[in-house]
Amino acid sequence: MRRIAIVAAHKLYLSYADSQRYAQELVRIVQEREFLFDIIVCPSFISLANVSSILKGSSVGVGAQNVQHRKNGAFTGQISMPQLLDVGVKYVIVGHSELRGYQGETPDGINKKIQMCLDANTTPIICVGEKKEDRLSGIWKKVIADDVQRIFKDIGCRAFNVENSMISYEPVWAIKSGADDLFTKPADPEIANEVHTHIRDVLSDLYGKSIASKIRILYGGSVDPNNARGYIEQPSIDGLLVGSASRRIESFVGILDAAEEVVKAGLKNSTIEHQESLR
Ligand code: PGA
Repeated sequence: MRRIAIVAAHKLYLSYADSQRYAQELVRIVQEREFLFDIIVCPSFISLANVSSILKGSSVGVGAQNVQHRKNGAFTGQISMPQLLDVGVKYVIVGHSELRGYQGETPDGINKKIQMCLDANTTPIICVGEKKEDRLSGIWKKVIADDVQRIFKDIGCRAFNVENSMISYEPVWAIKSGADDLFTKPADPEIANEVHTHIRDVLSDLYGKSIASKIRILYGGSVDPNNARGYIEQPSIDGLLVGSASRRIESFVGILDAAEEVVKAGLKNSTIEHQESLR
């Protein structure tokens, strides 16, 4: 069994001051309560260093919402891996559908970012997921398999310690803030579970069963405190990437409560050996 990971992706929601208060409150909460799973917060770039220093020494990890695949140079407006490492970042979200949409992120670019993260011993949280039309026309399996194969192209499991990656299955039609607004609704947990199994099959073809079984696959798309448990209970869902519902600390803690219930019910792994074996 894989250890659960719950990720708060703050997108462009919180101000610098709000992020600071959020991080301080989260530290207070994790000092009072011991959560037996991984908690990761991904603030906006402007708040990253401040949030990271507040969370330092706590059990909460810090992630960035993107990275430039080049290390330095004349790339206006970009943030590099060395800069992220400087401020204590351990996780990086890559390939989010919002970036694939308005910033023209391509599978080749995502591939380079994954290599950059793994090379720096940082966990890429790699977003994959079909659009509404792919789901409705029934080609979602192929769309996802093609994408996973392209984004992992030439990423050898030994050279890159690929099991250190996480994938987040994010059906574009289920993302609250997403492009397919009219259709937006959370995925049925069983449907999400089916896709997770499919993604793991694709990973097994690429890397073999043993490596594939270590890669955590999260679900993201309209998760909230009321539906979180339904996802985490599914056997192939190893955690959640939460956007809108993570921006208020009370709501994010509601999701942590749901994860805790599942772990306490013995349905998921709560040891840290799995996590440590990846470091
Ligand atoms: P949402 O976003 O929780 O607001 O739907 C999820 C995501 O973008 O990963």
